[in-house]
Amino acid sequence: MSSAQPSVAAHGGETRTLSVEESLEFAAAQVRGLVERAPGQLPTYTSGGAWVTDADPWAPNWAGGFLTGMLWIFARRSGEAWWREHAERYCEVLEPRADDTTTHDLGFVLEPSWGRWYELEPTERAREVLVRGGRTMAGRLQPRGGYLSTWVDPGSTFIDVMMNVGIIFRAAALAGDDALGEVAMRHCMTSRRYLMRGDGSTVHEGWFDLESGEFLRCATHQGWRSDSSWARGQAWAIYGFGTAHRHSGEPRLLDAARRAADFYIEHTPGHGIPPNDWNDPDGALPREASAAAITAAGLLRLSELVDDGGLRGHYRAYAERIVETLRSTEYIAADAPGYEGILRHATYHFRDGLGVDESVMWGDYYFVEALDLVARGQS
Ligand code: GLY
Repeated sequence: MSSAQPSVAAHGGETRTLSVEESLEFAAAQVRGLVERAPGQLPTYTSGGAWVTDADPWAPNWAGGFLTGMLWIFARRSGEAWWREHAERYCEVLEPRADDTTTHDLGFVLEPSWGRWYELEPTERAREVLVRGGRTMAGRLQPRGGYLSTWVDPGSTFIDVMMNVGIIFRAAALAGDDALGEVAMRHCMTSRRYLMRGDGSTVHEGWFDLESGEFLRCATHQGWRSDSSWARGQAWAIYGFGTAHRHSGEPRLLDAARRAADFYIEHTPGHGIPPNDWNDPDGALPREASAAAITAAGLLRLSELVDDGGLRGHYRAYAERIVETLRSTEYIAADAPGYEGILRHATYHFRDGLGVDESVMWGDYYFVEALDLVARGQS
């Protein structure tokens, strides 16, 4: 397929829009380049367009599953042995994380890696790793508050954890262990009650009293303010509540995913790229492309979960609009010589100055996932 005619972007400079296939080809070349230059490294974000391979200074290592997940996507798409060998090798590096009790991010680590391997080939080994990871994750349940705690503190939970609760549902099904499913459901219902507001916007962090389980307050790390709306948290909610509904069939979780999606769509300009935080009055970070990529993939999946044909088309069309925007060289780094990431203009942690207006590995991963879903005409 050929590229569209060049045009001038609102942000200046001439841009063109790659086709879905061209975008996937470019993404594969970027991933292959990284793996060949820095074998075994699992970077989180870029600096000046170059992947940073030092340990993440903010969070315990949580982004390794995303690079591995892209290796699996390209392995399936191409059938080439190189992708498959590397996907398996990177999975092996992540396998010990199934026992990691220091983080709430086990779904991010194990779902795109071992989860994709299992979906391709449901071996006993992959099943065992996923069940182990789900059990480790379930060990984070705080019984009084009914939530899975973060690495920050036993009294804290994040909206991001909605992306990590899926591995508990998966483990419950794989092990036939209903008690695990109940843990997952408790966390989902607590998140729905305390981390989602009446207008469908979400809270980044909730704090609870450990003794009584009482909800104490809202907070944020990467958003503007405790009572504001951090775009990536919203994206995690769209995708995470949808996944939780897919696993459980619980209609209240589908409703939560839909309300989160509707808030995103209502508050974002027509091109589909939100600011880092919708409420930030300074507009210092006017675009957070990773939130858009997560939302595109999440909406494509959500569109398969709703019964109503009109709604399905609405979510799918919005997701495709986001993907089209991201296929513009304003975002996809195809015309940025030497740039190492795939998707530009994402932000990891603006207060800590980490990956600000750069590429982040989950931005690249969910963009590739969304492109792959669009290319396959399904979700
Ligand atoms: N730690 C998850 C995020 O930065 O979105």
